[in-house]
Amino acid sequence: MKLEIITNQNPKPKPDETKLGFGTRFTDHMFNMDYTPDLKWHNPRIEPYGPFTMDPATMVLHYGQGIFEGMKAYRTESGSIQLFRPRDNFKRLNYSARKLCIPDIDVEFALGALKELLRVEKDWVPSAPGTSLYIRPTIIATDPFLGVRASNTYRFFIILSPVGAYYSEGFNPVKIMVTRDHVRAVRGGVGDTKTMGNYAASLLAGQEAHDAGYTQVLWLDGVEQKYVEEVGAMNIFFVVNNALITPALSGSILPGITRDSAIRLAKSWDMPVSEQKISIDEVIAHHNSGLLTEIFGSGTAAVISPVGELKYGDQILKIGDGTVGPIAQKFFDAIMDIQYSRVEDTMGWVEPAV
Ligand SMILES: Cc1ncc(COP(=O)(O)O)c(C=O)c1O
Repeated sequence: MKLEIITNQNPKPKPDETKLGFGTRFTDHMFNMDYTPDLKWHNPRIEPYGPFTMDPATMVLHYGQGIFEGMKAYRTESGSIQLFRPRDNFKRLNYSARKLCIPDIDVEFALGALKELLRVEKDWVPSAPGTSLYIRPTIIATDPFLGVRASNTYRFFIILSPVGAYYSEGFNPVKIMVTRDHVRAVRGGVGDTKTMGNYAASLLAGQEAHDAGYTQVLWLDGVEQKYVEEVGAMNIFFVVNNALITPALSGSILPGITRDSAIRLAKSWDMPVSEQKISIDEVIAHHNSGLLTEIFGSGTAAVISPVGELKYGDQILKIGDGTVGPIAQKFFDAIMDIQYSRVEDTMGWVEPAV
């Protein structure tokens, strides 16, 4: 398939790299490709970034048949641009696609198209410390139809957004509230996919946590509300007796690429790591016995996010001494050092983009 490139004749001024937030600025071009039952995926093109015109009956607007990914391009100290495990993101997009009755994309074609888009937009990849170019591949159902069924037509697009250092004021532990009133996902559902409704379903609990003075929500399983699943839109790790524990992928947890990277790094360091069910009662017991020394979240946006306080009903658990724990710091440094090529990539995770 030939990738057509239509250049934007009105490029925008680049933002101030020291003032980048998250997801507010977008580059000059986007990738688009369409699916119809007869032509399959076709008409791949890079064209000026701009709004879509949609029929108000477009299916994604009504039934949420849409999926996305989140990944980043990093500028190294030598000025080159690279990706971190990009095939894993496109494979996860295909996993989400299968569960949402959306046709798969060809991983190598999508990666090639992304690299071409990054070549066109290379000057948008920021170089200030901790900054990157966030990449949002998305597929939406486009039939204008109000019956409930899988759409016949789809749009696959990729947009890019320069983003700031996640921790502009330093990397400090956050306060988390365990929600007992809401669940994010259930086994057999779509919690292990990146589909839009999961995020819509998480908003009210997030808002309640904010209103109570907490940064994020800790989600328990959707059946018994007993076992820990995720924290906000991140996977979660506990350090108990110097060993790492993370909830096993149960079907309702998103299989995070940062999570997998942390597990593989831990194994390479001979740090004990266990993927298992862990209940909130066990977490409290480990805290009370003094064995629980750290909790942190993992995800593409923040890499590692240490937890300093956990609220569960009336109980407030202070985790560690209010500063970033040594194990959270070790993962944060190790993963970022690989992403920005400050160390040799012995895992084979980075890939030149341009
Ligand atoms: C619900 C949820 N859990 C976990 C993650 C972390 O996944 P990753 O490490 O691949 O970014 C994300 C972010 O993508 C997410 O949205």
